[in-house]
Amino acid sequence: MDDEAFAKDVIDAVVRESGATGLRALHAKGTLCAATFTPTPAAASLSRAAHLTGGPRRAHVRFSNGSGVVGADYAPREGRGMALKIYLPDGMTTDVVAVTLPAFFVRTPEAFMEFVHARQADPATGEPDPDAVNKFIGEHPESLTALGVVFADPTDSYLTAAYNALHTYLFEDAAGHSTPIRYHLEPAGGVVTVPADEAAQRGPDHLQTDLAERLAARPVVFDLVVSIAGDGDPLDDPTAVWPEDRSRTVIGHVEITGIATDRERDGDVLVFDPTRITDGIALSDDPILRFRRAAYSESVLRRSGLRPG
Ligand code: HEM
Repeated sequence: MDDEAFAKDVIDAVVRESGATGLRALHAKGTLCAATFTPTPAAASLSRAAHLTGGPRRAHVRFSNGSGVVGADYAPREGRGMALKIYLPDGMTTDVVAVTLPAFFVRTPEAFMEFVHARQADPATGEPDPDAVNKFIGEHPESLTALGVVFADPTDSYLTAAYNALHTYLFEDAAGHSTPIRYHLEPAGGVVTVPADEAAQRGPDHLQTDLAERLAARPVVFDLVVSIAGDGDPLDDPTAVWPEDRSRTVIGHVEITGIATDRERDGDVLVFDPTRITDGIALSDDPILRFRRAAYSESVLRRSGLRPG
């Protein structure tokens, strides 16, 4: 089955669970922010990409909760998303799509489908069947790193969480030299979590109202950081975390200035797609990364009637 056909099946399975219609099939609940991206001088030594070599660029950031269920509560036990879109001088855009998890659950689109099935709610309880989840974990021990989110302290604010894009990309410099990297988006003010019992007292829209309140007071800056692969680090496996001591370079600053009012209104369709790269950046062979284009495109088609170009 080709990616496009399999993506239809995957999105069917995801939507059957969440009931999301007219919205993103996953990460349905979110808020779009206005931002400016400014590269650091160090960025140009790693990649010749236009946004890494020039001056400040217009950008958007969308913060989101992981599930496809908009009405879900504050849901402290799920991953949060931070998607960054940078507007390029040629009129195109390039995206970085990241989550609060240290690694992804699965290595392949087929295993993602198994994961969705294993987590399907048992009609008798409304909860996933623990036996099905345990069977999945037994067959996919690599998912345990990501599933650790269940035990981690919840995010206090979208603006105080650190996000990882998990896949490897290849940065290419002006001389054609290639460097395998992974992106991280880190709040310049530091990471803050909240004890689980305190989080449980918060209302379902806590993260959204908190975001609006903090941005009304002042802009918030995230560093765009890349870690650089060491010898033997896996380049095609988003379940594998690279060792802590890998070299890290801050390649830019994302200043988030407020809630965005200029996009995703009046029929405007905004898509954050991790395969949307530009000259100076190439995709690794990670099968999840390469499949995401078809999966996101299928979700966009269902929520907007449009197939992204
Ligand atoms: C097979 C694996 C995956 C599938 C099938 C999948 C599916 C989806 C879909 C259908 C959407 C909604 C797209 C739209 O309508 O615009 C979405 C959004 C999102 N996904 Fe994934 N995803 C996968 C892997 C990942 C990974 C590895 C990450 C993190 C690195 C991630 C982070 C996000 C984020 C942050 C959003 C929200 C983007 C936004 O704000 O528009 N996903 N995903």
